[in-house]
Amino acid sequence: MKRIIIQYGGTGDLALKKLYPAYQNLMEKQFPFSVLALGRRYASREEFLANSVPQNTPASFTDNLDYLNYDMGDAEAVSILTGKLRTMIAGNTEVEFIYYLALQPSLYEDAIHQIKEIDASLDCMCTLTKKIVVEKPFGFDLESALRYNGILEEAFTDKEIFRVDHYLGKEFMQNLLLMRFHNDVIRRIWDNRTIESIQIIFDETHGVDQRLGFYEKIGVVRDTIQNHIMQIITYLTMSEPASLSPEDIAIEKVKVLRSISPIQEFHMGRYESLGVNSGHVVQTPTYAALKLFVNTYYFADIPIYVRTGKMQNEAKSLIYIKFKNTTKQVMHDQSIAENGVIITIHPELTIDICMNLKMPNTSWKSKPVRFRFNQSETFGANTPEAYEQIVQKILIGDKSLFPSMKEITESWRIVQPMLQSDLVGEVYPIRTLPRFASQLAKDNDFTWFDETQIPNP
Ligand code: BG6
Repeated sequence: MKRIIIQYGGTGDLALKKLYPAYQNLMEKQFPFSVLALGRRYASREEFLANSVPQNTPASFTDNLDYLNYDMGDAEAVSILTGKLRTMIAGNTEVEFIYYLALQPSLYEDAIHQIKEIDASLDCMCTLTKKIVVEKPFGFDLESALRYNGILEEAFTDKEIFRVDHYLGKEFMQNLLLMRFHNDVIRRIWDNRTIESIQIIFDETHGVDQRLGFYEKIGVVRDTIQNHIMQIITYLTMSEPASLSPEDIAIEKVKVLRSISPIQEFHMGRYESLGVNSGHVVQTPTYAALKLFVNTYYFADIPIYVRTGKMQNEAKSLIYIKFKNTTKQVMHDQSIAENGVIITIHPELTIDICMNLKMPNTSWKSKPVRFRFNQSETFGANTPEAYEQIVQKILIGDKSLFPSMKEITESWRIVQPMLQSDLVGEVYPIRTLPRFASQLAKDNDFTWFDETQIPNP
């Protein structure tokens, strides 16, 4: 079968940084497909290749990477693309088109209408199948997400639609489910009888950089909270699915999301401009801190604190599950540290369990220690990148790593108050934690996790 990925946004940041390396790896692993990159930036394929892939890129990839100078606004756009596709598939009896939309949400509607036209006008003497891949954020808010979905579903069946959240392709996410459901000891402690609170910290050192045009219209809520953070919360708190099929997992995730009320306790801000001459002035929230609850029987009353955003001093991605500590009172010893699980995603994937053990040469003095699993030490450093896993699933038509439309709808409902908020918010100096993040901790009487509390093993 001839399989072609038609890459909308083919000269964009996502395609260059994440998708092309993933395509290259998959082609090297003998997945047979070719890519047609669509973009306005370069006039010819030669110019595109010279600027989009490193010079030493193997021919096994570049031979299968074509380019079309394509302007969606051009009246001839559809016929130009149809003509190109017709030449690409000539002589094949079985063809699959994978339309991959890595575009601003505001362009989806036009792109989908064009795809419908292409489909209708593409006469081909072959069996033609199709898929459509839509990047997050899916929509701009609840209303637009439902609208786009309506248009999508007029042209594609649900099996053919892949809504991407690349976090579902990450090893730590899949590990979360296995860790929770394949260990009796973890199952028994993973609920509100034992867990006191959960923190999700996603601090990034980089700013909006070359993505200013895209990010400006998106902001932190649409960029990471509505999707990545909500997905992490579902994996942390969902009940065991009847099976690991996409449908059964989605049922449990939707239950979690439906139990979360629209977020009321939140703060947002943006980082200070990098200087008047930098051309880099962000006018949209780039950092947020919030608190929410999953109101299911087993997780009610566990506050989940989230902080995430850009231009921080240190890149830190972790989940901290803090267990209740009645031992302090029972033992009349306030120095006993908390038990907890720390799942660190960045800089490397580790899972630590923190316990108190006796310090040698002391009389009953305990010291917090960590027992660590390190993914690369145990399994080697050859875990495929999230996008490679995602694209592989798309190629083979497996929907297990894609959020369902119900999940996306519920997630938009949950973040709606944040989208509606017209609070200008704090302008934080770069490399500093916004004051509101510390304030959230103070107001709720907790401390954001940091390594100094429980030393590294
Ligand atoms: C993307 C966001 O979806 O996720 C980016 O658009 C963010 O702003 C990125 O930096 C983080 O993903 P990762 O894979 O680098 O953790």
